[in-house]
Amino acid sequence: MNILFKQTTISGIPVSNRIIRSATHDGLADSDGAPSDKLISKYEHLAGNGIGCIITGYAAVSRNGVSPYPAMMKIFDDGVIEKYKMLTDAVHKNGTPVILQLAHCGRQTSSKAIGMQKVAPTNVLHSFYPDKAKVLTDGEILGIIDDFVAAAVRAEKAGFDGVQLHGGHGYLLHDFLSPYGNRRNDRWGGSTENRCRIVELIIKGIKEKTNLPVWIKFSAEDNRKNGMNIDSSVEICQRLEAAGYDAIEVSCGTVQDGMNTMRSELLPMDAVFRYREPCASFPKFLNKIALPAAKLINPLIRQPKPLENFNVANAAIIKSSVSIPVIVVGGIHKAADMEQILSDGKADFISMCRPFICEPDLAKKLANGQTEAKCIMCNYCGLVIEKEPTRCLYGRVKN
Ligand SMILES: Cc1cc2nc3c(=O)[nH]c(=O)nc-3n(C[C@H](O)[C@H](O)[C@H](O)COP(=O)(O)O)c2cc1C
Ligand code: SF4
Repeated sequence: MNILFKQTTISGIPVSNRIIRSATHDGLADSDGAPSDKLISKYEHLAGNGIGCIITGYAAVSRNGVSPYPAMMKIFDDGVIEKYKMLTDAVHKNGTPVILQLAHCGRQTSSKAIGMQKVAPTNVLHSFYPDKAKVLTDGEILGIIDDFVAAAVRAEKAGFDGVQLHGGHGYLLHDFLSPYGNRRNDRWGGSTENRCRIVELIIKGIKEKTNLPVWIKFSAEDNRKNGMNIDSSVEICQRLEAAGYDAIEVSCGTVQDGMNTMRSELLPMDAVFRYREPCASFPKFLNKIALPAAKLINPLIRQPKPLENFNVANAAIIKSSVSIPVIVVGGIHKAADMEQILSDGKADFISMCRPFICEPDLAKKLANGQTEAKCIMCNYCGLVIEKEPTRCLYGRVKN
């Protein structure tokens, strides 16, 4: 272990190693969207166990950009700053930096969940959230840019070390970047320059109003017709670097894409029937027939491959095209792979989500010689968030 656990800096922020907790929705915000005491303790525990840097779960910047999952963090008014400050103080006690992830869910929510019509660059049908999105006007897009900037100003007041825009996984900024979600022919759509305009104006605003480093997470490929692919992603990343972004985290997929962003060998059927609608509301007698049938066909449903290190190849291509730090996430769970990715120069930092849900003290364990994470990437945790706080359900719900 020489590169992984070497002290370094990222965007000028000192870090004790190159292991980052990738953004993970915890479902533990209070009714105002501020971190609850439980969430603060969770972060304090994570920070006290050897992690290099924490990226928070996504926090909504606008009222119409909230997730359908319960207890998402929100940062669209000043009343929440004090609670966020308690979170950063708790994490900083251990000298660990913490980055706030800022998001707008766009089409990937339901109007019922947010209490108003959801919005998008274009009204493209979402198979999981089929209600119609309102197409954003020019003025409304400028309003959302202001919301991101105002959220970053609050993040700075709350003591965060930086912000990360959620530009991937099918959320609003992903939809703007991708020709699949963005079919506009005004100044926000069409050419790469136009599709990138929103993220370029957001960083311009944040840099004018704060001193925070600004990172972005995005999906280098998304498996959508005319969607994101590695060639267009390289061009986008070069624009992001020129616009002033301080680091890029390479991910993939959209929520619509099933288990692409977070891959598993099988769909977690028991969890699907327990937590995902409409299955979760099936009458019990129907479940008795439907669940065994679903399990029977489960091995026949093709899942995205490979299951491990699945964004590393794209991260390496992006890293060779930009000079800002590249973080890679997705199916990374072996210490030897982490070391190899870094020593081969395929990425500058390793980030993980599910392994830290399973073992919040994983970084310390790896430093002490554990060779791989215990998380078996079964994805039960990815379903529980539809109804309850995030937790590892491995061994508690059978597949
Ligand atoms: C329970 C859960 C919550 C997640 N929440 C977020 C989030 O808030 N923001 C985000 O960018 N990605 C989120 N993700 C995606 C992860 O950050 C990560 O990109 C994906 O799980 C692949 O990494 P892994 O193989 O290390 O889990 C979430 C994933 C899971 C399983
Ligand atoms: S439920 Fe636990 S073991 Fe399964 S993917 Fe999530 S964290 Fe890993």
